[in-house]
Amino acid sequence: MNILGIESSCDETGVALVEAAGEGTPRLRAHALHSQIDMHQAYGGVVPELASRDHIRRVLPLARQVMSEAGATLGDVDYVAFTRGPGLAGALLVGAGVASALAAALQRPAIGVHHLEGHLLSPFLSVDPPQFPFVALLVSGGHTQLMRVDDVGRYALLGETIDDAAGEAFDKSAKLLGLGYPGGPALARLAEFGDASGFELPRPLLHSGNLDFSFAGLKTAVRTQVMKLGNVCEQDKANLAAATQQAIVDVLVRKSLQALRATGCARIVVAGGVGANARLREQLDAECAKGQIRVHYPELALCTDNGAMIALAAAMRLQRGSAAESTDYAFNVLPRWPLMAA
Ligand code: KG4
Ligand code: ZN
Repeated sequence: MNILGIESSCDETGVALVEAAGEGTPRLRAHALHSQIDMHQAYGGVVPELASRDHIRRVLPLARQVMSEAGATLGDVDYVAFTRGPGLAGALLVGAGVASALAAALQRPAIGVHHLEGHLLSPFLSVDPPQFPFVALLVSGGHTQLMRVDDVGRYALLGETIDDAAGEAFDKSAKLLGLGYPGGPALARLAEFGDASGFELPRPLLHSGNLDFSFAGLKTAVRTQVMKLGNVCEQDKANLAAATQQAIVDVLVRKSLQALRATGCARIVVAGGVGANARLREQLDAECAKGQIRVHYPELALCTDNGAMIALAAAMRLQRGSAAESTDYAFNVLPRWPLMAA
């Protein structure tokens, strides 16, 4: 069966075609992505209304591109999956509307998918897919969660951020350093030229004993340092970027190891945009190697938002008979939707 996936929850329009046969791991046939970063850059962050309008412009051309790259036609599509939430309401409505209209025209079911489920299953499209059970570290612009994953739809929340998400900490610190949006990749690039030991930054909740995170204090500490320095020179900036990245990575790695110990799992999956961070990968790989823990990441191109993970999550649910199939094509979106309720 072929599943067309549409992602439009934030500032990326993603479309993909995934094929699933029997119980085998689904295969990505083609995917295409349009990032709105350039458009939002001028405003220093995502402007929801502009995001929705751009999704409208992009989604059908991207779908045509995917079908052509896969050497398939719309007649080959068996299901149309879309991101139902969480995300920006208007942006989600574009994907949900287009997917439902397409599904109705093709007389195939539409399937609403949880965005974070897409992220945490995305390593199944890599060359070395994980096996259940595993710990998932979900680190995106809006979420920071540790979960025990026993199967698709069987998630136990182990801990999460009580304030800012890890990606938000990257983005807000980057803004304080005068870097562009999105700040994560920019801060990571600058950090390569810096010395992390140049600044003492807090590692909130590092020794809290539980698996929750807090990053709001870090941003405040970065602001204090920037104000103290006054005219920040390039080297100070790079050092502060390196120290910020190191503080975030230290907390993420330590809590991940704690979660692995607590659950007894021998595998961890890292998903979401921050999972692209090279320092995080390096440190987590090194620590996990000591305990013979396998670390799984999505392919780099599938770390940030994309349509492939949405089609994949629908495919894996279909294989288990637990997909939210709609054949009346009525749809709604869930901008705030806890994963445990999916
Ligand atoms: O998963 P994602 O694409 O979108 C959400 O669903 O939020 O994650 C975006 C987040 C942003 O905060 C971005 O700054 C961060 O991921 N990010 C990074 C890197 N690449 C993306 N943070 C640190 N280092 C990176 N290389
Ligand atoms: Zn995301």
